[in-house]
Amino acid sequence: METKIVRISEDHEEQWVKEAGQILKNGGLVAFPTETVYGLGANALDEKAAAKIYAAKGRPSDNPLIVHIADFSDLEKIVEKVPEEAVKLAKAFWPGPLTMIMRKNDKVPYGTTGGLETVAVRMPSDEVAQKLIRSGGGYIAAPSANTSGRPSPTSAAHVIEDLNGKIDMILDGGSVGIGLESTIIDLSEDVPTILRPGFITQKMMSDIIGKVEIDAALIKADSNIRPKAPGMKYRHYAPKANMILVRGDREKVAEKIRELVRQELDNGGKPGVLCADETASMYSEGIIKKIGTLHDELTISRHLYGVLRDFDEEGVSSIFSETFETPMLGTAIMNRLKKAAGQQLIEV
Ligand code: TXA
Ligand code: MG
Repeated sequence: METKIVRISEDHEEQWVKEAGQILKNGGLVAFPTETVYGLGANALDEKAAAKIYAAKGRPSDNPLIVHIADFSDLEKIVEKVPEEAVKLAKAFWPGPLTMIMRKNDKVPYGTTGGLETVAVRMPSDEVAQKLIRSGGGYIAAPSANTSGRPSPTSAAHVIEDLNGKIDMILDGGSVGIGLESTIIDLSEDVPTILRPGFITQKMMSDIIGKVEIDAALIKADSNIRPKAPGMKYRHYAPKANMILVRGDREKVAEKIRELVRQELDNGGKPGVLCADETASMYSEGIIKKIGTLHDELTISRHLYGVLRDFDEEGVSSIFSETFETPMLGTAIMNRLKKAAGQQLIEV
């Protein structure tokens, strides 16, 4: 299949969005930018279209898709009932990087929800995304637009790497702003529960709706507790190399990473170092990659997946990484980093 790749620019936006919307209506696949990561869209109410997403990504079919909408009034048409918390959270954070899970109604096929009675819904804030959703019929199922198991795409180049030739169209809207997937909160049970941490934090939501819990599987990610979001159980977000995180006092972390790099070199390996702009000068050996500045945590979240892909490209054998427990995004950044590292963490 030939994939049409277009760069969104003001003069052509309307035309491309219209063409992409038509593809979606006809059951095709279109990758598009959102404020979190690039999504791979299909008509969420068409089971056959949703099935194509799984094939293109090589995604396990029990892993449900998020349905993207552009207008709040469209929500009540696909769920059993809009919970009160959803109204409050939507008022505060939609459009934006928050996905809410509710009980679905018959309009949503099981092919979209991986067989579940619930549906995940998000209203993205990216304008191209919103226009595309409206032009494509209002309900667009969209997982991250990567091959299953690879880091999520934060630029059109990443989408092209993974999906060129497998989907109908890619809308290139430049680099994304946040770089980590949306926060997921489950509103289908008694206590609202975070299934995936993201830009919208537990505190931000509990300030509005009161008690918010965190899925136990996220807190003890190395245990055998099964995560409630099926997708969170896979070794996701992963670079090809073996990755180890080192946490603790800044000087000691650098010392430990230097030691690990030396060992890897002595063993004939090709080590990579993942560090902050501020600490890069503490390393001299190995392939050193700066992720962003500790003074602006969005630079770190935005570059995380791209840097992991860069390490893949360089063919490193191991990645030794600092940890980034920043004030707001730290929980989400560390969740993704720990998964990328298969939970390997050394405390110094
Ligand atoms: O930021 C985002 O959310 C991006 C952009 C494209 O919007 N999308 C995204 O989709 O990250 P995906 O498919 O990569 O991740 C969706 C996650 C998976 O872990 C899936 O298991 C979970 O959401 N999920 C979806 N529906 C669910 C449901 N009904 N119950 C529990 N978990 C659900
Ligand atoms: Mg994904």
